[in-house]
Amino acid sequence: MLRSRMKNVVLDLPPEWSADADALPLYVRCEDLRLEQVFINLIGNALDTIASCDRPRVIVELDMRAKTVDIIVRDNGPGIPADALPRLFEPFFTTKEMGHGLGLAISSAIARDYGGAQL
Ligand SMILES: Nc1ncnc2c1ncn2[C@@H]1O[C@H](COP(=O)(O)OP(=O)(O)O)[C@@H](O)[C@H]1O
Ligand SMILES: [Mg+2]
Repeated sequence: MLRSRMKNVVLDLPPEWSADADALPLYVRCEDLRLEQVFINLIGNALDTIASCDRPRVIVELDMRAKTVDIIVRDNGPGIPADALPRLFEPFFTTKEMGHGLGLAISSAIARDYGGAQL
């Protein structure tokens, strides 16, 4: 299901990198399935929020200029309401009718487990 919604997702890589994922000079110390879980949650949230947009777009950027790799997922949805910001990573916090409120709590725990952080 995620795959069919992926047509609105753009991978925005620096020009010197090839679009071939295997050629990316990026290494992170993390179990692959858990890192995948983070991507699924962030991209899934972005796709949820652009569902009603005119020109839906999700952009995934990878920035490795520092010694760490920053993963940035942007969308052109309405944005996160200011009063939701302090509670985003709280387990079971959701503003969705059918939400579980666990995606960001799990993702930030995975990032922390491997020495990372949410920005
Ligand atoms: N890309 C986003 N745009 C706007 N709000 C977001 C976005 N990502 C997360 N949120 C907010 O954070 C809440 C918690 O997200 P999450 O932990 O993934 O749980 P869920 O997706 O089940 O609601 C969402 O309900 C939503 O209010
Ligand atoms: Mg979610």
